[in-house]
Amino acid sequence: MTGPKIYRETQRRLKDLGFTFSVPIEVTHYIGGEFVQGTDPFPVIYPATGEVIGMAPEGREKEVEMAVGAAKEAFRNWGRMTPSQRRSYLRRFGEKIREYKSVFEILESLDVGRPIYENRLGYVERMAHNIEFFADFVVTHGSEAYPMENGYINYVLRYPVGVAALITPWNMPSMLATWKIGPALAFGNTVVLKPAELTPLGAWLLARCAHEAGLPPGVFNVIHGFGPGSAGELLTRHPDVGLVSFTGETSTGKVIMRNASDTLKRLSMELGGKSPNLIFESADLDWAVEVTLRASFFNQGEVCLAGSRLLVQRSVYEAFLEKLVQAVKALKVGDPLDPETRLGALISEDHWRKVMSYVEIARDTATILTGGKRPELPHPFDKGYFLEPTVVVDVKPSDKVCQEEIFGPVVAVLPFDTEEEAIELANNTPYGLNAIIQTRDVGQAIRVSEALEVGTVWVNDWFVRDLRAPFGGAKQSGIGREGGHYGYDFYYETKNVCIANR
Ligand code: NAI
Ligand code: MG
Repeated sequence: MTGPKIYRETQRRLKDLGFTFSVPIEVTHYIGGEFVQGTDPFPVIYPATGEVIGMAPEGREKEVEMAVGAAKEAFRNWGRMTPSQRRSYLRRFGEKIREYKSVFEILESLDVGRPIYENRLGYVERMAHNIEFFADFVVTHGSEAYPMENGYINYVLRYPVGVAALITPWNMPSMLATWKIGPALAFGNTVVLKPAELTPLGAWLLARCAHEAGLPPGVFNVIHGFGPGSAGELLTRHPDVGLVSFTGETSTGKVIMRNASDTLKRLSMELGGKSPNLIFESADLDWAVEVTLRASFFNQGEVCLAGSRLLVQRSVYEAFLEKLVQAVKALKVGDPLDPETRLGALISEDHWRKVMSYVEIARDTATILTGGKRPELPHPFDKGYFLEPTVVVDVKPSDKVCQEEIFGPVVAVLPFDTEEEAIELANNTPYGLNAIIQTRDVGQAIRVSEALEVGTVWVNDWFVRDLRAPFGGAKQSGIGREGGHYGYDFYYETKNVCIANR
């Protein structure tokens, strides 16, 4: 397929679903309940072919002022609504997302280059749930009271902060946006979403969902653009933005913290990872291979939670790797819209080069067991940013490929002998997002879970998220926890009322 053919094919598919758009896709801002054309358009590229499939506008001072102003104005009503009133709006928002399920599935693949197979694994349902869950949560939860021995009583009130800036990355753009939109809106804040410049399509469709769901103008706004000197930075400096929820690179998180400090914003930072996947000798090796395939290569490994360091007990090292390599070789890489495909393209040419730079280091200093090169694919996918799933062995714990976030389908494998050694290796990076423990020894699962310096431990699986549970990173992987009531201290202001007994 050539460029125009891809448009036509996509247009045809989406038209069958009752969804029409111009060619190339003209992405708009969404400000104060209106779709705003904007200026300074930049290209939207389909990573699987390198073709320009759309144009998105870059938001600057003017658009940021308009959006923050609209959000501030809308907050006057939205912030005062009862939780049940907000819930009825947010349920309609969730329903709209469901209605556009097949469209999201296609757009998310075009945006990210990820396999449509993955988008069909309940991805869109989960997006709707992310919003509905928090709408219900607020309605059904109360707060604390502290009666004192002298008869006085304290009780806790919570109220929304105001305008929330949500700054999201490109790897699972629509899913990650709804993780933030749900609690931000349900807890009574209004939102300005700034999606990653590499993936504007999902946010654009989310705006359409919010619009059709009848959300009051200004409650939910979307501004496209870049980070430094553009919409992203301007939001993080804006005096009328009360909180910033960010997911992305650790170095970006640090810049945002600095920029937001002048106006003392509340910050939630979900940053990078270099998560260990520990395979102990008692693990069910076949299942461990299945979990590892997902943990290392889901979304081409472009996941902050990816199990990118594989630590394997020496007694099962050979057996496990043999099974793993066989399974990795069977993963189909290519056309993201082919339902058989398991790995799509990396997000951009720049990112492909960055990931390849780690592969080249591995080629020089370690051994590549499988992968490590661009797969041979038919036109137009020969122009896409593809990389075979790659397994690297003979590495040292201090090597770059074991320490730095690669954010691609590259996993480094290290053997260990004892549980103590495994724990030490696992904790030996600046990151602390999450870990995977694969074992059938319950005592070991308990001991190792306790010893790991991370925000989340998954035992015998990966990326299972209960929205009631806390989620966030330790060390350089983040600040703060979101999920259920853990998000209260971020999305709400808290007030204690102390009443005298007289
Ligand atoms: P990034 O951290 O630069 O961008 C994430 C979001 O922040 C985007 O919306 C971007 O426009 C915005 N942003 C960037 N600089 C900003 C600033 N100064 N102020 C406000 N907003 C700003 O991530 P990017 O460029 O998309 O990817 C770079 C690398 O980050 C990747 O190669 C990958 O290694 C890593 N990454 C990690 C993620 C994670 O969840 N841990 C997610 C995405 C990328
Ligand atoms: Mg960037």
